[in-house]
Amino acid sequence: GTAGAAGWATGPGARPRPTARGQELAEPQVLASRDGLLDVRLVAAPGVRLAGRDTTGWGYNGTSPGPTLRVRPGDLLRVRLVNRIGQPTNLHTHGLHVSPSGNGDNPFITVEPGDSYDYAMRIPAGHPAGTFWYHPHHHGTVADQIFAGLVGALLVEDVGGVADLPVSGDRLLLVTDTTLDAAGRVASPTMMARTVGREGELVLVNGQHQPVITATPGSVQRWRVINGCVSRVLALRLEAHRLTQVAQDGVFLPAPVDRDLVVLAPGNRTDLLVRPTRSGRYALVSDPYDRGGLGMMNGRPSTSGPIALAALGTAGPATTPPSVPATLPAPAVPQSPVTGQRRLTFAMGMARTGMGGMGFTIDGRTYDPDRDDQSVALGAVEEWTVVNTSPMDHPFHLHAWPFHVLAGSAGTPPTGVLQDVVLVPAQGWVRLRIPFSDFPGRTVFHCHILDHEDLGMMATVNVR
Ligand code: C2O
Ligand code: CU
Repeated sequence: GTAGAAGWATGPGARPRPTARGQELAEPQVLASRDGLLDVRLVAAPGVRLAGRDTTGWGYNGTSPGPTLRVRPGDLLRVRLVNRIGQPTNLHTHGLHVSPSGNGDNPFITVEPGDSYDYAMRIPAGHPAGTFWYHPHHHGTVADQIFAGLVGALLVEDVGGVADLPVSGDRLLLVTDTTLDAAGRVASPTMMARTVGREGELVLVNGQHQPVITATPGSVQRWRVINGCVSRVLALRLEAHRLTQVAQDGVFLPAPVDRDLVVLAPGNRTDLLVRPTRSGRYALVSDPYDRGGLGMMNGRPSTSGPIALAALGTAGPATTPPSVPATLPAPAVPQSPVTGQRRLTFAMGMARTGMGGMGFTIDGRTYDPDRDDQSVALGAVEEWTVVNTSPMDHPFHLHAWPFHVLAGSAGTPPTGVLQDVVLVPAQGWVRLRIPFSDFPGRTVFHCHILDHEDLGMMATVNVR
């Protein structure tokens, strides 16, 4: 396939090798706030370069990923979204703890083709500093629009002390996947691919195919990895290295954790410290991950071989690595008593979807934006048990209010931080504690396999 052409072995059992021809990882343009304000215009339009080719793909301001937005806690973020993609779209600031109402992070807004919309959101003064992202959220076409390239990073900058990490480089790795035909057109999925959750043939990092990230031995780099794929679960492994995880979903962990493998569901982010000690070239790969149901896809094995994402290239004289702090500035998880319990069921079945395919439901119903599915009192701290009765994993995502994962059927250990996407294993469950601490308003929760969300696996929550 495409991957092999660039000099990497892929396929079951193969060990991906770093290519000698990869280009240095490039970063999208950075738009940073000044004096408490970031005021930007994002034009969604076709015609971006992906994997070094001209394509019909979509981007923001001419690139995919779009510009990286950098804000600080307390800032006002204003975005004028201009829609030139010829179909309705909108914008979601994934993971931000901001108001879901009015012209804030409101998923019910529709921006028609040719129109624009002015979003405005205040980042709370105490907002965690970390790695977030933005993408469209127009129900029914979210997967199509992200698969075509509409994604971007949103970083809340470290303020005071946090930046003491001994890093000599801070790199963004926004991972997406897509499928292009010979003419550079983004492929449409089959109904079966949508049912399973489409996975593109081309896995890109910042829109590049298998770029190289250079570092000197003895240095420490911070890699902010965003899983922006529509459906693909990433199981990250860096050849000959352990990955030191310092943040999950934009929030610092209480202490760094060394891992051989870091699993990211679609929508998840992780911040890693990468510490090369020797010269060489090492592949960053995504190991096979069976999220269930992939065997239903025509002609595809249920798990594909490891996929090469990028390479770490190190050269130069080795220096003594700086030591990584033993503790990190993790925000405290609120310990207030639980005031209510709910149980939600994620299921798939033959629900009516208007598209003649499989329906994906929450509590037996497909998405209806006009229905209040869950009503919650402002200030409540709720325990939600999300049960997955289907044969596939579904990543649960709630807007606006991050949650604490208490337990899960896979022996899921509590991370000790608030996060915003958690993988609910096939035939399994997770238990969450959600502080609905502020921001009254209505928003959504859904499966972050965005084909499933588009097929109905989304519901509303009204907090008042
Ligand atoms: Cu990243 Cu509602 O999604
Ligand atoms: Cu799903």
